[in-house]
Amino acid sequence: MKIIRSIKELKTAIFSVTNLGFVPTMGGLHLGHLSLIKKSVSKCKKTLVSIYVNPTQFNNKKDFKLYPRNINKDLNILKKKEVDFVFIPKTKEIYKEKRHYKIKLPKEKNFLCGKFRKKHFDGVIDVVDRLLTLINPSYMFLGEKDFQQLYLIKKHIKNKFKVKIIPCKTVRDKNYVALSSRNFLLSKKDFSKAGKIAKLIYTFKNKNKNNFINKKINLLKKHLKKTFNIKIDYLELRNENDLSTFKNKNKFRLFIAYYIGKIRLIDNY
Ligand code: PAJ
Repeated sequence: MKIIRSIKELKTAIFSVTNLGFVPTMGGLHLGHLSLIKKSVSKCKKTLVSIYVNPTQFNNKKDFKLYPRNINKDLNILKKKEVDFVFIPKTKEIYKEKRHYKIKLPKEKNFLCGKFRKKHFDGVIDVVDRLLTLINPSYMFLGEKDFQQLYLIKKHIKNKFKVKIIPCKTVRDKNYVALSSRNFLLSKKDFSKAGKIAKLIYTFKNKNKNNFINKKINLLKKHLKKTFNIKIDYLELRNENDLSTFKNKNKFRLFIAYYIGKIRLIDNY
């Protein structure tokens, strides 16, 4: 496994590589990330994982500072996974190219997480665009756990890059919580609380497959707030294909973002 820390090294390392699989991450690796890596290793000749905590996608400085970082642990995990390249860029290099235009995001950036984390998706799309320009992979592996991110990235790259996106299912803990680097910040008690919340929403979604689900969501929201003492940014049904609000018979997902204490978790079912 080659560890790459500069753009110059990157260019030399991947210059002649074809059929490259790319897994962008912010580190704090867990089995969710590893499922993406596994897919890439089995599908592509070579796999490149990036680890970069991108400052521009954090709308809150404290959140950026607190974000779990453990590069040595991450590298030890990756060494055992047949990863060919790990790219650990520096902010100075990633943002060296000053762009004179601003990437315009579609309207779907304005709701769900986009409503509560201003500029978050602008930061995500900007950094993914920069990484893709540098790496030019054949495939990029992204998790459905961050469904709105997956949707916006797909839309952004459509007419700009040749890369094919491979969406990957959400990996969950046995207590049903979606794995996330932010879970490392939760106490044992709060992690178990998150498990109870996840199971409740999962059961609710599977029981309510009819027209009346929208009405019941407000009741569920109230119940969750009261029982678990959590702050909910949103609990909303959206169409899987275009993220429009729920209409009967659409393939829909139930999206949630909430805080346990100061830790913000997101999921979809
Ligand atoms: P990060 O949160 O590290 O996630 C990296 C990738 O792993 C994303 O595609 C995410 O959806 C996926 N992932 C996270 N948890 C998962 C789970 N439990 N099951 C399956 N996949 C999971 O998302 C980002 O980083 C950043 O925004 C990034 C795209 C790297 C841009 O900075």
